[in-house]
Amino acid sequence: MRQIGIGIAGFGTIGVGVYKHLTGNRRLLCERLGLELTVTKIADLDIDTPRSVTPPRSILCRDWQELIDDPQVQVVVELMGGIKNPYKFVMAAIEKGKIVVTANKALLAEHGKEIFACAAAKRVPIFFEAAAAGGVPIIKALREAFVANHIRSMHGIINGTSNYILTRMTQAGLGFEEALKEAQAAGYAEADPTLDINGWDAAHKAIILASLAYGFWVNAADIHVEGIQNITAADIEFAEKLGYKIKLLAVIKSDESCTENCPVEVRVHPTLVPESHVLASVNGVFNAIAVHGDVVGETLFYGRGAGQDATASAVISDLAEAAVALEIPRPNFGFVPHGLYGKCKPISEVITPYYLRLSVIDRPGVLALISGILSEERIGISSVIQPEAHEEEIVPLVLMLHDASQGQMDRAIGKIAALDCVKRPPQVLRVETFAC
Ligand code: HSE
Repeated sequence: MRQIGIGIAGFGTIGVGVYKHLTGNRRLLCERLGLELTVTKIADLDIDTPRSVTPPRSILCRDWQELIDDPQVQVVVELMGGIKNPYKFVMAAIEKGKIVVTANKALLAEHGKEIFACAAAKRVPIFFEAAAAGGVPIIKALREAFVANHIRSMHGIINGTSNYILTRMTQAGLGFEEALKEAQAAGYAEADPTLDINGWDAAHKAIILASLAYGFWVNAADIHVEGIQNITAADIEFAEKLGYKIKLLAVIKSDESCTENCPVEVRVHPTLVPESHVLASVNGVFNAIAVHGDVVGETLFYGRGAGQDATASAVISDLAEAAVALEIPRPNFGFVPHGLYGKCKPISEVITPYYLRLSVIDRPGVLALISGILSEERIGISSVIQPEAHEEEIVPLVLMLHDASQGQMDRAIGKIAALDCVKRPPQVLRVETFAC
């Protein structure tokens, strides 16, 4: 059977998982592909610490350049972490004509445009299934299964750590810090969970999904990103009373029935999701993405977005595709730009309903003042909750607001925050209606 030589750069958790399952399911892969995927070289700065798998010492090296220079390596897998070295490695591999498989969302979010342009110029395919939502096959679905569709919308829970934290806050009543510590102790959150918490891990994945769906490489500076760091137990509780769950949601959508030249919304932020929507039931570290295509209608993808085995499953699916691409050259090099769309909608033009939680002095006239400001900005109130309190105490006042633009909200919140009776910075969260 013809062997396909694979070089793995980065032998950490995912690299070990890829090696483990390539060898463990070797027979099945051979039967299915009619080719043998053989790891011929592994590069990692640390080749001495024992792993749970033991590749022959002779294939281990410390310098990724050896993978580039080795004629036996036909496909390289980039699992190094970071951006600078992976960028050099991937570009060097493309230059040398080696097919690239990468799981690196930050690399693609930042340098996707140039990497794919270079890959197309050199006619070298790049595969990146593991770069968004781990084991959930959303990249192949967008590239292949939905090729006939204008994508109307994608709504994704695509960061497992923040979903775990919000789930624990909801189900066990934990505070944010407590839930984060638990996520770290369970090994879900990184030691430095900054990108998980501030929304940027999900944003990197959203950039990749939006770029594939709309045919232009989305620039990180053009999207809106908020994290979950300011969500409190009170917000979770009020949202539940109102019939919602709070989720860190990636929202990617084009205007309804627009098929050319319309701007695309790409945003990641904590969001009130109606309890009746299936995404409200996605809990713990799980990811899910609801995709609405104009031909297929509603679809849903669900599974593990991180972890050794789920991510290895996605990487190996790319290796299988790479092996087949070596046999039968293909015209698609990973990302296919086209000119039907081409820009992101500025967040100032995005219109959604809102949740507003204020801390106010309970005194006559406060609600009238606040509703007066909202009315000046033409923002309608759909419901109000204020727990009973003694006069002059500070109480939460929660308002659900009808559709408003960010501009209307900014003006209203500026005036509301300046009122004497408002004692803490207002909490403002978007509500998703899933209308498409
Ligand atoms: N840290 C990510 C998450 C997994 O929690 O979903 C890798 O992107």
